[in-house]
Amino acid sequence: MRDHSDLQAMNERSLLQQTAVRQATFSPSEVKTLRPFSIWEISQFMFGVPADTLRKKLADDPSLPQGTVEEDGRQRWFALEEINELRRRIRLRGKSLLPERPKGRAMRVAVSNFKGGVGKTVVAQHLANAAALDGYRVLCIDFDPQATLTHSMGLVEVKEWNTVWGIMCRDLCREADRITETYDDPDDCPYPSGDELPEDVQSIGAQRFQDFIQPTCWPTIDIIPSCANAAFVEFASAQYRSLHKAWSFFGCVARYLDELPDDQYDLIIFDCPPAIGYQSLNAAFAADILYIPSGPGYWEYDSTTSYLGQLGDAMEDISSGFAKLAEDAKITLPKTFLDIRLLMTRFEHNNPLHTAMLDAFRNVFGADVCQNAIEMTRAVEQSGRFQMSVYEQDYRQMTRETWKRARQSFDRAYGEFHEHMLSAWKAHAANKEVK
Ligand SMILES: Nc1ncnc2c1ncn2[C@@H]1O[C@H](COP(=O)(O)OP(=O)(O)OP(=O)(O)O)[C@@H](O)[C@H]1O
Ligand SMILES: [Mg+2]
Repeated sequence: MRDHSDLQAMNERSLLQQTAVRQATFSPSEVKTLRPFSIWEISQFMFGVPADTLRKKLADDPSLPQGTVEEDGRQRWFALEEINELRRRIRLRGKSLLPERPKGRAMRVAVSNFKGGVGKTVVAQHLANAAALDGYRVLCIDFDPQATLTHSMGLVEVKEWNTVWGIMCRDLCREADRITETYDDPDDCPYPSGDELPEDVQSIGAQRFQDFIQPTCWPTIDIIPSCANAAFVEFASAQYRSLHKAWSFFGCVARYLDELPDDQYDLIIFDCPPAIGYQSLNAAFAADILYIPSGPGYWEYDSTTSYLGQLGDAMEDISSGFAKLAEDAKITLPKTFLDIRLLMTRFEHNNPLHTAMLDAFRNVFGADVCQNAIEMTRAVEQSGRFQMSVYEQDYRQMTRETWKRARQSFDRAYGEFHEHMLSAWKAHAANKEVK
């Protein structure tokens, strides 16, 4: 007979192995670092000018960042900080290199689908990286205890109280106090105040706002990470709800993000778990835009269809069942999104089944399907093993064509995403100004 102690022992053995795998797959120093970028990449993919135009600009003004020349090569390589300084200091062909940034707070985008393995994390990671290379400041939130995004951003040791679970605990404590204070006599409040909650909840809840945000190897990408122990969040959230019946458990992350100064980030990307639960509902409630990746198989179509129905039903249940509670917490129901898009991933142009599935998606969902599917590419399969995005991989380590095709596929998807994001952002900013 075997019991929980066997599972725990298996877990411990596996954790030891995990450390060894990490040591072998991360940079030898065990710390993931961001590579520099060549003049070729910067001019062709970022600034959209001939390399010679950029070289001339740099030669004309020696006070500009000049990058570093490789020991045995002629190519100059620039750190992202240097590229961003160039963006601030030079104009090319009369145009600013700074990315367009409407007023107001950052746009919040949830990458979500309850079908596992459709490419959610790969999409979230590549959108975050592409946006950072475009000059935006990005915050990622890993809602998934599998923590794939967290690992791919170079974080290894994460404590569960620094994850979305901690944010929910903190929110419960703060909301408990707020609700108690709405009573003239706190003794009349039928719910516990923050200091009447269990001690472990109080101690996790006492964390400061910034304790959840961690830097990554990208200078302009931060992350609220996840870890395997945060899987407990689903179980704990159910317990917390029973501790405080007036707690709007679906609004924790939205409230948390509302505390951020408007100009700290431009884009906030949520990587959601393959499930509908407390975490993914929090992600949906905090999101302005819902991006739903799906693979080109029949079962993925089937699951995406169920996901749309189940998320819709869950949001409707909250709108009707929690109307009073949401009103007290100043949450407007029903929850509205500025945009919802489906994005085909792992697509092969020369596979007739894939093109048939894409046609089916387009017939059913019309313009809600992104024009540019993300192609199945060896560069990403490799990047999965090394936990590196196409943007992070050095193109000299593979054939340049393979890398370029992969990069262009993600660039096209990002270009379209960028348009959707800007339209939603401008609509949001205009709406705020009217109010
Ligand atoms: N465009 C692509 N080309 C090649 N492989 C891909 C591509 N996108 C994703 N993959 C691979 O598919 C697998 C699943 O991708 P990913 O982890 O992004 O899916 P997910 O939806 O986040 O999964 P989960 O539901 O477990 O969180 C990974 O091994 C990844 O490397
Ligand atoms: Mg994932």
